[in-house]
Amino acid sequence: MTQRTALVTGGTGGIGTAIIRYLARQGHRVATNYRDQSKADAWQKKMSDEGIEVLLVPGDVSDPASSQSMVEAINSKLGPVDILVNNAGITRDTTFHKMTYEQWNDVVNTNLNACFNVTRPVIDNMRNKRWGRIVQISSINGQKGQYGQANYAAAKAGMHGFTISLAQENARFGITVNTVSPGYVATDMVMAVPEEVREKIVAQIPVGRLGKPEEIAHAVAFFTGDDASWITGANLAINGGHYMGW
Ligand code: CAA
Ligand code: NAP
Repeated sequence: MTQRTALVTGGTGGIGTAIIRYLARQGHRVATNYRDQSKADAWQKKMSDEGIEVLLVPGDVSDPASSQSMVEAINSKLGPVDILVNNAGITRDTTFHKMTYEQWNDVVNTNLNACFNVTRPVIDNMRNKRWGRIVQISSINGQKGQYGQANYAAAKAGMHGFTISLAQENARFGITVNTVSPGYVATDMVMAVPEEVREKIVAQIPVGRLGKPEEIAHAVAFFTGDDASWITGANLAINGGHYMGW
């Protein structure tokens, strides 16, 4: 296996941590961003105790300048980013008639505009190298919509539009671009949903439980491998059977 430089945004979160573990154990050099230094230090120590060394650089993916300097710091310390996982994300759930512009804008900036902010500074190096892997972490709710998530569903659906356009433009340069659309996975993001609402959602999942972060990481590692060079523009739903549209 060729060792690559991988950037997983939001790597300190539930799904991001699992992706980092997976890519690091495959032998890649891994990096992520942080916004809160003390939280980042504690997370980095936990990973180091597991034998996983992660480069942490400051970065806010909703901000173009911050994203640019984050990528430059990684390029200079680990070498140009070969694998990018646009994973950082937030929710600001509320029904649309109560939604503020700020709730709309924060979610669109962090989930969708971040794809521009972080991918734009990595794409030239990938094209020059004639190799690259880009994966967007979208959501089941970008596919089916969700009560209380007009902002999030719009941003997550937009991420796949980004994927399929970028996939077409960069296929001849050895770069694949794919989307993974998780269903409800047991992380802080889902645990923030009120318990009674969450229980009703879990009851709709045919497999009968929330997903595990590793179950998403496994798919990301599949898309980023050398053997996946003919898979581009795909969207893989991983949701315990919760939504089976195709
Ligand atoms: N379908 C139909 N009606 C629903 C509903 C649904 N799915 N969810 C709520 N309602 C109803 C309620 O029963 C309530 O009805 P009554 O007024 O008759 O009692 C009404 O809607 C409440 O409406 P409000 O406008 O007052 O809503 P609220 O301000 O109380 O907010 C909510 C409700 C924030 C949407 C809350 O229901 C919620 O958190 N829902 C979960 C949203 C969700 O799934 N978020 C996912 C977060 S995790 C994630 O995003 C990761 C991922 O990608 C999967
Ligand atoms: P999480 O545990 O809340 O982690 C989110 C991560 O994103 C954190 O590391 C967070 O860093 C980072 N982040 C948030 N805003 C950022 C910003 N502006 N700049 C840089 N980093 C930022 O959430 P998760 O469940 O792992 O979710 C990861 C991704 O999967 C998200 O895109 C989410 O939408 C998607 N997803 C999740 C589920 C699910 O059920 N959990 C389902 C489908 C899709 P801080 O600590 O600094 O906030």
